Amino acid sequence: MDRKKPLLGTVQETLLIPLYARAVETRKEQALLRDPRAEEIIASIDYDFARFDGLPSLTGALLRTLLFDRWVTDFLSAHPRGTVVEIGTGLNTRYERVDNGSARWIELDLPDVITLRRRFFTDTARQTMIASSVTDEAWAAEVTSRTDGPYLFLAEAVLPYLDEAAVHQVVNLLAARFPGSLLALDTAGPGFFDTQEQHDALSQVEARMRWYCPDVGTQLAHWRPGTETVTAHTLTSLPAPLLAQLPVPYQQMVSALAAQKLPQAEGYRLSLVRLPSDPPLLP
Ligand SMILES: C[S@@+](CC[C@H](N)C(=O)[O-])C[C@H]1O[C@@H](n2cnc3c(N)ncnc32)[C@H](O)[C@@H]1O
Repeated sequence: MDRKKPLLGTVQETLLIPLYARAVETRKEQALLRDPRAEEIIASIDYDFARFDGLPSLTGALLRTLLFDRWVTDFLSAHPRGTVVEIGTGLNTRYERVDNGSARWIELDLPDVITLRRRFFTDTARQTMIASSVTDEAWAAEVTSRTDGPYLFLAEAVLPYLDEAAVHQVVNLLAARFPGSLLALDTAGPGFFDTQEQHDALSQVEARMRWYCPDVGTQLAHWRPGTETVTAHTLTSLPAPLLAQLPVPYQQMVSALAAQKLPQAEGYRLSLVRLPSDPPLLP
């Protein structure tokens, strides 16, 4: 395949970071995950990926991905014909890792990302790509016209790039159109947000985070009363069964990071919340 330059906007370019993390990991003897598709994809994209070589935050991105994968697996165990909606899907390959053969998948991202994604993936009877901003409410009708619940929405490394008003709008949209659904998201705390200029990977691209949230459970419950936190983790407090499955050097690395109690790491949260089931009361 010819190597082509990716024609991506500023925030869209960030999708190349977790993509590269998965590709590089695949070549390691002891790997957190293996993703041969990511290797193929980066080989066909003309981009200076070397800027991300050896960056510690690539490991953080992989740990986050593993936790989101686990949440999908748990959801599909309970709801084998449920629908997983990837908000800001980028070039992720979660379907390839954890699909169960019967779920529906919606993969939503901005139009230039979906154009790029279509070079490598195609829609199937159970997988549909949607080119839209998550803030453009029309996508919700497209999802409900194609799928039934229950729904698990994933926003992995997406919402921090929106401003707070847009995140609030997205939460309102999800709560109103998909009551009772699950939403997995990650949030930066102030320590992470304020030091993003020095962040190893973000400093290599132009995009910057625009939203931080010290306590996502409280914030979402304030925006949508009745929202409940199902579970919340940091990269240093992953669920014990997940931690136990990591190669030993990674377990040791996570323990060492936990001991340092860095505000950047401790304030970065991975949360699974359930949106309220009751329709909102009209004023
Ligand atoms: C860091 S990447 C993460 C990609 C993917 N979730 C992953 O983990 O590999 C951020 C993604 O959010 C997408 N994104 C940013 N703003 C968006 C918006 N308003 N609507 C939809 N997607 C958006 C970007 O295009 C990009 O694909």
